Amino acid sequence: MIRIYVHIPFCDSKCIYCAFASFVAENGVKNQYFDFLNNEIINSNLDDKVVSSIYFGGGTPSSVEPKQIVRTLETIKNNFHVLSDAEITIECNPCSTSQEKLFSYYNAGFNRISFGVQSLNNSMLKFLSRRHDKRVALQAVKLAKKVGFENISADLILGLKKGNVVRDARALINVGVKHISAYMLQVEEGTQLKALVLDHSDVIKNDDQAVKDYNRLCNFLDNHGFERYEISNFAFNGFQSEHNLGYWRGEKYIGFGLSAHSFDGKNKRWANSSNLGDYYKRKIVQEVLSKEEIDEEKIMLGLRCYLGFNLKDVSFDLENNKNFQQMIKDKILFREEDQVRLNPKYYEISNSIILKLLS
Ligand SMILES: C[S@@+](CC[C@H](N)C(=O)[O-])C[C@H]1O[C@@H](n2cnc3c(N)ncnc32)[C@H](O)[C@@H]1O
Ligand code: SF4
Repeated sequence: MIRIYVHIPFCDSKCIYCAFASFVAENGVKNQYFDFLNNEIINSNLDDKVVSSIYFGGGTPSSVEPKQIVRTLETIKNNFHVLSDAEITIECNPCSTSQEKLFSYYNAGFNRISFGVQSLNNSMLKFLSRRHDKRVALQAVKLAKKVGFENISADLILGLKKGNVVRDARALINVGVKHISAYMLQVEEGTQLKALVLDHSDVIKNDDQAVKDYNRLCNFLDNHGFERYEISNFAFNGFQSEHNLGYWRGEKYIGFGLSAHSFDGKNKRWANSSNLGDYYKRKIVQEVLSKEEIDEEKIMLGLRCYLGFNLKDVSFDLENNKNFQQMIKDKILFREEDQVRLNPKYYEISNSIILKLLS
């Protein structure tokens, strides 16, 4: 069984904070890309043909003509066996969402939609150079519901100087959002935001303030029936992202498109180039992981979400590790037989806990 990721690298404009492989392009460039992408899928020649989830991400899949999206999903369906209950997600920017596009996605078989909302504070949206405002974001969610989507997710960004992340979450839930991803604003190298922050350090919140926002959001969502099933991901009963769970369980996934990553579920990872010219030349970077690296990854991915990891699945001798024993005593880690989970109270410092455990 495999999971498929499809990368659509186009956006209507580049946001000041974004370091994803995404850019603005003319129709000719987009059409050429989709021809190549569809050929990549057709010629992929994989043994494993059964697909349990598909994720169209980007970039902004909603910024291209819907017929290209529908065509690409059809190509996948014609070349693989997509399970009838497969989760099929498309990422959309509220600014390029229309009822017509949503209908095309829904009729083609998409059953999950993820909106890049970021904030419902109009001055923060402007600061982030987003093209939508609060009204457009809420309208996009309402349209998706009207068209028939039940499984709707929204991305929020934490650490913004203005706005109120709890109020935003409440408004989104009121219009039908069932899943929220909340990411701390990352100041990435090479972005316009990086230069801004160097000049005016007051444009974003400091770490302590941002963590306060995160904790307030966690409490609010917990009180409204949303489970925090990963550090940054919260879902109403039954609306966890199957696709993401697959990544965290270390399952096999295949990526198509610019910069898309793949993993064989054992020890091989490979990635298409993030340079368009090199992608068209089929330049691929491969990596074979050592047993130690695989086990480290199992622990890291497992502890970042509610799944945890199984002591029998890793070769590290944690039973005799003093840090491990102490963390169990301090209830930082929970152990049920051989399954180990991180106490959700410590999610926001999970990185330092994982480092301590592996040191
Ligand atoms: C590919 S985008 C989502 C779809 C669409 N491109 C959009 O932005 O509306 C994935 C998400 O990554 C998050 N993201 C991107 N850059 C980020 C950064 N520097 N810090 C925090 N979150 C970021 C945003 O929440 C964004 O919605
Ligand atoms: S955040 Fe989304 S819309 Fe903005 S540049 Fe990145 S991928 Fe494009």
